[in-house]
Amino acid sequence: MSVPTIELNDGHSIPQLGFGVFQIDPDETADAVSGALEVGYSHIDTAEMYGNEKGVGEAVRASGLDRGDVYVTSKLNNGFHEPDDARRAFERTLTELGFDYVDLFLIHWPLPTLYDGDFVSTWKTLEEFRADGRSRSIGVSNFQVAHLDRLAVETGTVPAVNQIELHPYLQNREVRVYDEEHGIATEAWSPIAQGDVLDDPAITEIAEKVGRTPAQVVLRWQIQHGNIVFPKSVTPERIRENFEIFDFELDPDDIERIDGLDQGEAGRTGPNPDQFAYVPG
Ligand SMILES: NC(=O)c1ccc[n+]([C@@H]2O[C@H](COP(=O)([O-])OP(=O)(O)OC[C@H]3O[C@@H](n4cnc5c(N)ncnc54)[C@H](OP(=O)(O)O)[C@@H]3O)[C@@H](O)[C@H]2O)c1
Repeated sequence: MSVPTIELNDGHSIPQLGFGVFQIDPDETADAVSGALEVGYSHIDTAEMYGNEKGVGEAVRASGLDRGDVYVTSKLNNGFHEPDDARRAFERTLTELGFDYVDLFLIHWPLPTLYDGDFVSTWKTLEEFRADGRSRSIGVSNFQVAHLDRLAVETGTVPAVNQIELHPYLQNREVRVYDEEHGIATEAWSPIAQGDVLDDPAITEIAEKVGRTPAQVVLRWQIQHGNIVFPKSVTPERIRENFEIFDFELDPDDIERIDGLDQGEAGRTGPNPDQFAYVPG
């Protein structure tokens, strides 16, 4: 099964389906990622905050694949937004992964209530990593429209991606439309809402109709909307199931029915990026 790629605004491309490792125990990460690479995933989404970059690097090296055949994303943790801290944090990320570059590096959260609201100098620091080639692409995560607008006005550069919470119950349309209008690829985190949407009658009915599982239906809905997804699982059967979504299509009616499940802010499962101010101790 071949995974489509999405072309980014900097000329690089990213596999539209990947494997997320949030909440995978550091000791189990190498095994989980190895399993995913064996199934055929070639894109891994990690972060310094997850504490498991090392396991990701180990699995990539153990896979026998060329480094260039695996797309790896990591993210700047919330305590390191000051430029010098960001430079050191990025070097630690490369050391943990054991790589001399990452494919994509993101500001994990905008933290508009911290650092005097200055995520612009943080962004300019990421631009250094792109310029010296140690991050092929750079982007942001959890950025709202106002945050993206500020980057555009103050730096004139546009992130390659914006990674946001997005699933049937929180469709994040305002941000999604802004991304699309400005050439920013949208990555949907918690693409199946950590399982919360899988019992929804609309999803289970469509799943029964098309002969697929609820998770496959929701991931397929994401793919048909053009979103990049990286579902997380430590369960081998689910890792395979989540990969098998490129040999069927949902009808426009089914897509519309899932579009209708949006609950707006009430559907948010994670923190609101305008207020989130968590700095790991
Ligand atoms: N940028 C950010 O702020 C941010 C925030 C959150 C997540 N993320 C990224 O997005 C990735 C995915 O999000 P997520 O991990 O929060 O949630 P998710 O992928 O929506 O859901 C993961 C949960 O669903 C279960 N699951 C997976 N496949 C399933 C299937 N086929 N059927 C039933 N249940 C299934 C998993 O259980 P088992 O593991 O037990 O199988 C796990 O509990 C993360 O790993 C991370 O890379 C980014």
